[in-house]
Amino acid sequence: MYSEKVLEHFRNPRNVGVIEDADGVGTVGNPVCGDLMTMYIKVEDDRIVDIKFQTFGCGAAIATSSMATELAKGKTLEEALQITKQTVAEALGGLPPQKMHCSNLAADALKRAIADYLKKNGRVEDLKRLGLDNLPDEDEHDDHGELCPM
Ligand code: FES
Repeated sequence: MYSEKVLEHFRNPRNVGVIEDADGVGTVGNPVCGDLMTMYIKVEDDRIVDIKFQTFGCGAAIATSSMATELAKGKTLEEALQITKQTVAEALGGLPPQKMHCSNLAADALKRAIADYLKKNGRVEDLKRLGLDNLPDEDEHDDHGELCPM
């Protein structure tokens, strides 16, 4: 059912944890299953220099988040915004169709973390230009303390 790469990232996820002094933080809930994910980024010169995640989710969510953080590290904000659930699934050698929704978490949380960074820095024009000014509210998932460290 799962590719070797998915299993490897599930068993040995990269970039798990919290960045206490993160420049941007994004949390999303998966409407399909109710699972949660938070992504933390450090940014220098509009480039993601560090990234970590926490998820309260299934094995596929852990593997896709791990891969998404690997893909995003070192990328500019604009490049990182090109990371979609398809990009992540392809990089993992595919996901079973019924688990594709799990890869939404990582891509969406990353997008929110980037939006949070731009907002904190008052970059309204960039938020608009990148289509990040109208993300739906996720306030109900703001309690990061509830998340499992995996
Ligand atoms: Fe919820 Fe996979 S079943 S993220």
